[in-house]
Amino acid sequence: MAAVSSSVRRTPLIAGNWKMNLDHLQAIAFVQKLAWSLKDAGHDFSAVEVSVFPPYTDLRSVQTLVSADKLPIAYGAQDVSEHASGAFTGEISALFLAALECRYVIIGHSERRILHHETDEQVSLKVVAALENNLTPIICVGETADDLETHGASAVPVAQLRAALAEVRSAADIVVAYEPVWAIGSGQAATPEQAEQVAAALRAVLVELLGEDVAAKTRILYGGSVKSGNIASFMREPNVDGALVGGASIDVTEFASIVRYQKHVGL
Ligand code: 13P
Repeated sequence: MAAVSSSVRRTPLIAGNWKMNLDHLQAIAFVQKLAWSLKDAGHDFSAVEVSVFPPYTDLRSVQTLVSADKLPIAYGAQDVSEHASGAFTGEISALFLAALECRYVIIGHSERRILHHETDEQVSLKVVAALENNLTPIICVGETADDLETHGASAVPVAQLRAALAEVRSAADIVVAYEPVWAIGSGQAATPEQAEQVAAALRAVLVELLGEDVAAKTRILYGGSVKSGNIASFMREPNVDGALVGGASIDVTEFASIVRYQKHVGL
């Protein structure tokens, strides 16, 4: 496995993928409460970055709140079109997300790949669309239970990452999220060792495709049944730099507790 300099410090990223939950009014209340509770607890936002991924219809409200109150919370969308504009009914352009000051966009979530038949090629085009508009893509990869049995843990995520980066050449700012499909919403998270093994394989791909420097600064998240009770065990792994949280991200107390993993376990 390629060695990557351990001297680069990657700021952990805790990302809340709300999926199809919380309307724009609920989003305002949620983000306000999250910011207040983290500030009250003395959270150092530069030590652990916090981000939320509401539905599209909430983004303008979240932008208005974050910008008016100067909240140290990043936000982004759960998907993006591979096209810039045109006759694509129901799609949302990266240009529009950039206009709402989104920092990130989730691309290639397994729910998009499986339920909406999104292909590796589309994922790759979406990554390009995001980067062209200065959005940081959070590229999701992960194997199903069948893949795990047939190919082992890292083969499918590695192949998906290679495909997603097919058109990326430069030292781009990207985030990778390893989300085993069997661990999503199942209550059965991967073990920290499993997450680390795949994260290390993904980092080796980054070294090969984008070079040591980019690989060393790219954050790799784990996702799949992350809770306040297991987050610290993932964050102890050297190649795991944060979490993409689903169900637990729409409970403000639980999500704030995940963000504060260093404190409640005394790390
Ligand atoms: P859960 O945290 O609900 O397992 O979902 C993970 C996920 O899909 C985040 O994108």
